[in-house]
Amino acid sequence: MSRLQQQEVSHEEIIKLFNAKEIDNDWSFIGYKPSDTGKWTHNYHRYPAKFIPQLVERLIDEYISNEDAHINDPFFGCGTTFVTAISRGFKASGTDINKIAYLITKVKSTPIEPDYLDKKIKQFLSKIKCVGDTQATLFSKNIEPLIPERHIDRIDYWFTEENKTELGKILRIIYEEEDEIIRDFLLVAFSHILKNCSIWLQGSTKPTRDLKKKPIKPYEALRKHLKKMQRGNNAFYEVVFAKVRENLNDYLNIKTGDARKQLIPDNSIDLIVSSSPYVTSYEYADLHQLSTIWLDLAEDLTEYKKEFIGTSHKKYDNKKLQSKLAQDIVNKMSKKSQKMAKEIKAFFIDMEEVFDESFRILKSGGRCCYVIGNTRLKGVDILNAEVFAESLKHSGFKLDRIIKREIPLKILPQKRDEKTGRFANNHDANSEAYPVEYIVIGLKER
Ligand SMILES: C[S@@+](CC[C@H](N)C(=O)[O-])C[C@H]1O[C@@H](n2cnc3c(N)ncnc32)[C@H](O)[C@@H]1O
Repeated sequence: MSRLQQQEVSHEEIIKLFNAKEIDNDWSFIGYKPSDTGKWTHNYHRYPAKFIPQLVERLIDEYISNEDAHINDPFFGCGTTFVTAISRGFKASGTDINKIAYLITKVKSTPIEPDYLDKKIKQFLSKIKCVGDTQATLFSKNIEPLIPERHIDRIDYWFTEENKTELGKILRIIYEEEDEIIRDFLLVAFSHILKNCSIWLQGSTKPTRDLKKKPIKPYEALRKHLKKMQRGNNAFYEVVFAKVRENLNDYLNIKTGDARKQLIPDNSIDLIVSSSPYVTSYEYADLHQLSTIWLDLAEDLTEYKKEFIGTSHKKYDNKKLQSKLAQDIVNKMSKKSQKMAKEIKAFFIDMEEVFDESFRILKSGGRCCYVIGNTRLKGVDILNAEVFAESLKHSGFKLDRIIKREIPLKILPQKRDEKTGRFANNHDANSEAYPVEYIVIGLKER
């Protein structure tokens, strides 16, 4: 294990440090199968750029020795850090601005008693069977589809009339479920199948329609996915300690909100394990729009998007960057694109504020671990990891450790587009994805 000895590391030294870094194969988790990375509740819902759970497990196991540990993730996404913390009997807290992330994470971190879940799923499937079975659609005539009125245009844009009606009827029946835990479980399954039931271009992370696509029928898709989730729940239930299951509210603190301002007391967290958004990369609000419209999670999609870090909507004219490396990148980019330079500046400023917040909430001796890769936009290297290392120091952290890991190709989500930096479909990307990423670890000494 190579700990960084220097108390003071200048930005030039940071660059040297990263250049000299060798890949640590122990952290690549080569050979892990989808059944390993998708174990327990980890395969409930697709989510772009999610962690592999083994990485979080390893960090927690290396850094946590106290039984009452509290682990935080300011960008919890689909909750990989939470599921891992709960499985080990630790408290978990954090934020994500994406409202669908909140629902997914809550459901994934909540083990349900297997017999009860089985009974509830059977009841639900028997109620919706008549909806999905064309032979029996007559029986379901009196079910009024629940289709969020204010998003009707978007729903018509993405769904055939038949699937829209069927989904609307299923949704109405889900909302009739009185047990909130079961209702949320069903909503996550519903949210997960939406892409395949729509004419969203298969495999695309951009909102593109495929008018030739034959969307799958909701009932069958939901039935299959619920079975899969049920198996995951049962395995998760086995590993979670009874005292955690019975007092889950004391262990879980999930908030929809901004990573720069968490409702967490000062000096209360033992470990932060997180992966931030990337600049001008995934537009999470766009990507999850099918769920956002069906579950009616945002009044105005355009306003909603502006809160997301790393999107093209963010610009700051009056704030100054602390990181010299970040400023160099912004200067280089301004020669290519003023617009992109502003977006990059806003991204790094937002992240500096996230690191200040990390410092505030961590206990002395606590660490934050940020997983991040570098990118290239318009020919300019965006050295995210190096900037994060420098920014962590500005926030008061000691740069404790840098791990360079290979991302096994089968785990790589997509290639990045050279011009835009966005994750593109594998077939239309014009550059290789970066097969390495870093875990940048800061220590709060005092
Ligand atoms: C790389 S993903 C995290 C994935 C997560 N590690 C997992 O395993 O699912 C980054 C997350 O940052 C969230 N995000 C973007 N802007 C945010 C903000 N201002 N505050 C909190 N979360 C934000 C996105 O919604 C997204 O879920």
